[in-house]
Amino acid sequence: MDINTIEQYMNRFNPRLVAFVLGAVKKVPYFRKMIKAIVRKESAAIMKELEGSIKPYRRAFAEYASLPATGRPRKEIRDLMRKIKSREEGKWKNGFVSGAVYHGDAAHIEFLNEIYAINSQTNPLHSDVWPSIAKYEAEIVSMTAAMLGAGSDSGVCGTVTSGGTESILLAMKSYRDRAREERGIKKPEMIVPVTVHAAFDKASQYFNIRMIKVPVDDKFRADVKAVRRAITRRTIVIVGSAPSFPHGMVDPIEEMSELARKKKIGFHTDACLGGFILPWIERLGYPVPSFDFRLPGVTSISADTHKYGYAAKGTSVILYRDPELRHYQFYKTSEWPGGLYFSPTFAGSRPGALSAACWAAMVSLGEKGYLDAAGRIVKTAEKIKKGIEKIPGLRIMGDPLWVVAFASDELNIYRVMDFMTTRGWSLNGLHKPSCVHICVTLRHTRPRVAERFLKDLRAAVDYVRKNPGEKGDMAPVYGMAASFPDRTAVTDMLDAYLDTLYKV
Ligand SMILES: Cc1ncc(COP(=O)(O)O)c(C=O)c1O
Repeated sequence: MDINTIEQYMNRFNPRLVAFVLGAVKKVPYFRKMIKAIVRKESAAIMKELEGSIKPYRRAFAEYASLPATGRPRKEIRDLMRKIKSREEGKWKNGFVSGAVYHGDAAHIEFLNEIYAINSQTNPLHSDVWPSIAKYEAEIVSMTAAMLGAGSDSGVCGTVTSGGTESILLAMKSYRDRAREERGIKKPEMIVPVTVHAAFDKASQYFNIRMIKVPVDDKFRADVKAVRRAITRRTIVIVGSAPSFPHGMVDPIEEMSELARKKKIGFHTDACLGGFILPWIERLGYPVPSFDFRLPGVTSISADTHKYGYAAKGTSVILYRDPELRHYQFYKTSEWPGGLYFSPTFAGSRPGALSAACWAAMVSLGEKGYLDAAGRIVKTAEKIKKGIEKIPGLRIMGDPLWVVAFASDELNIYRVMDFMTTRGWSLNGLHKPSCVHICVTLRHTRPRVAERFLKDLRAAVDYVRKNPGEKGDMAPVYGMAASFPDRTAVTDMLDAYLDTLYKV
């Protein structure tokens, strides 16, 4: 018996009934073991099929499972990497990838590389040796806060982190520690919409904060009434996205943060994706719901410089309304034999060159650079949205600004995505509900990219309609994820994927 047989069999029943029966059956150790074994076998088979595409350089280039006896010549290493780079860069450079590379113009990259090289030895852990990085980071935080509605003497402060996930983890840890210290809360809870980024689930697991998920409305925005109902004495923070990763919708942050303010609870706006684009879209006159420090209930914001801030990968900003909250983020110890030790974020040593490059990106673009970029991105997204609306069988999820998710009531949307992959596209598959999105970046604003996307999408829909029996590549993976209500079965498959990534 394989997953397809089980899937076909299960598809005949009501999914709730299947979930209930599987849930009950799983409680019996024998069946639990059997289900796990089937899933393991099936994940292994899927991974074997995918291994070729996950590891495309096998045997094509020199491989080192252990150190070479003597070092290889620098030229050889450089040549190898240049060859590999040339294989990969066409895809993102020519705008085939959703999100991922947000700027990508050659002159911009060269400039950031130059800045990195100037600062490559810096480490802000040693602020006495490199006070330059403290200067750059303080200014990155200040420029970001000013952009996100903090007045000059508002007290809003923050730190530079390694990315959106770290900003979110740090904020959740700070709320947890503050609640424990100031309110004696030992079993903290955070309220998040189901569409919030997985980093919040990570924070929940890492820091033992119970995650209370609330549903979203038909436009994929958090249900405010459900948020109100979910608040308890243990709630330490409420979270809203501006916008959410899956559907690009901004939650009703004004109402949500007011609820938090009235109950004296923290409110975090996750503007990792939108922090560096929403302020400029708003200035261009597009309808942008309030989300930043202009709302009195918002107590922290994460905003990623390495997305629409157009910095190199590896930086983000976490902002707090006041320094007291930031103190819960800082690590400090006076007990270590290694001396007085303190660091603002999770890492000890950090690449100061990335902060320098981030500062350089922000200062070189300036307000005008961000404004122009935002204008080009929303205009391209509008073209894409209009085009998708005209394709029979597809519908857009919600009413997004530049992250455009689409679904189908007639076709398997993952097979549409699989077809797009054969045309070179790398789109994001989403589920619960099943859909696919394209996160529009500057790469897509180049001539003819949006037109090519729509042409390929029309062909994809046509193809899937005419070939209903085909299996596809990612379609079975999502099929399996959707049909197995058992979380561990799906996460086992993800373990297998990560294991494969680390195979030489
Ligand atoms: C809304 C949102 N929050 C958080 C993150 C996490 O960011 P990172 O991948 O930099 O950790 C993302 C990433 O896409 C995001 O879209």
